[in-house]
This record gives sequence, structure tokens and C-alpha cells, in this order.
Amino acid sequence: MKGKFLTFEGVDGAGKSSQHAWAVEHLRSKGIEVVATREPGGTPLGEKLRGLLLAEPMHLETEALLMFAARREHIEQVIRPALARGAWVLSDRFTDASFAYQGGGRGLGLDKLQQLERWVQGEGAAALQPDRTFIFDLPIAEAQQRQAHRQHSGSGDAPDRFEQEKLDFHERVRTAYLARAREFPQRIRVIDARQSLLEINKLLEEEIASIC
Ligand code: TYD
Repeated sequence: MKGKFLTFEGVDGAGKSSQHAWAVEHLRSKGIEVVATREPGGTPLGEKLRGLLLAEPMHLETEALLMFAARREHIEQVIRPALARGAWVLSDRFTDASFAYQGGGRGLGLDKLQQLERWVQGEGAAALQPDRTFIFDLPIAEAQQRQAHRQHSGSGDAPDRFEQEKLDFHERVRTAYLARAREFPQRIRVIDARQSLLEINKLLEEEIASIC
């Protein structure tokens, strides 16, 4: 079986990381080799850049450049080699997050993001794109309630630089994610994150079966 590249996206608090973890275990239980990874991060250098990106104030273009620099390393060291040997790669966030956060949230122009995407992922038939992307979607007020609950219960980390942004930033991120889904309906599935975990697991199971 050929390896596939799946990405998990959504606003902060939508539950994508739990679903990512579930999908990794689901595929492994079928005997499939799965590389579970995340962005920003996924390599030693990428994880260092993640530390800076989540904590240090910086210009919005610096932020976008560092996101794509970490991605370049991630693709070279982790994603392409894994796919080449037939493993599946499941990434907790990828380029759609840059279009949503740096584009929608911060207001960076689409043309700049598209240039970076072409530079880092390649062009034409050789370009790297996920085989399927799941966007976990829910109203921002609910996403923020979930996060507050996690932080109060002690199961979440302190809010990072993105999580500290105001409501309208997160609304723009959500709007940009939904626009991406409309632009790439073949690749992107929007999943209503208000459903129960079991319902979402079932949807994911069906989606994964359809691309096996
Ligand atoms: P996140 O997956 O939310 O980590 P955690 O679940 O541990 O909080 O990712 C960290 C943040 O990085 C998130 O708020 C979105 C942001 N981000 C971007 O702004 N652009 C990007 O290209 C990526 C990959 C992430």
C-alpha cells in the first residue's frame, strides 16, 4: 500500500490534536507504518523554531518566513522520506494553518503565502500536497470555552502567543480555514467539531477507508 499524507487543522480548541492521536492509533492498529508529526516542529530545528514562534513577539512576515523555514526542514527530513518508503504521515497542522493564521489572522497577503508555498513544497506534478486535510470546525466562543476548561482543569499548557490573541483574530482564522475548504473541496473535509468524539472517529474512519 502506498503511503498517504494527512493533515489535521482547525482553530485553537477544536480538538484536532486528540483526533490526530486517534487516527494515528487507528492506522497503526491495522499494521500500517505511521509517522505522527506536527507543525511548527517535527524536526529538532523545527521544534526550536516552534519555541520561538509560540513565545517571541515578531513581525508578521518574520513569523510567516519562520513557519515556512520549519516546514522546509520538516518536508526534507521527515515527510518526503516517510512517504517514499510507503509510510503514512499524519501531521498536526501544515500549510493551511499558514493561510489561516498568517493570512486570515494576521492579514499577510495571499500572494506572499502562495510564493512561499511554491518555494517550499514545489510546483506542478512534483509539488507536495496532503492527500486529505481535515479541518475541525466550531464556533470560536465554544472553542475558547473548551480551552478555558482545559486550562482550569490543569490538562492544558499556558496560552501561547496565538492562543492569547483576541476573539476577532480567531474569527478571521476560522473564516480563512473555511475559505480554504471551499477552494480545495477535493482535498479538504470540514468536520463539525461539536459532534461527539465517537461520531468524529467514525467519520475519520470512513474517510481514511476511502483513501486507502
Ligand atoms: P497547535 O497545533 O495549536 O499546538 P498546541 O495544540 O500544542 O497548542 O500549534 C501552535 C500554534 O501555531 C497554533 O496556534 C497555530 C500556529 N500556527 C501558525 O500560526 N501557522 C502555521 O503555519 C502553523 C503550522 C501553526
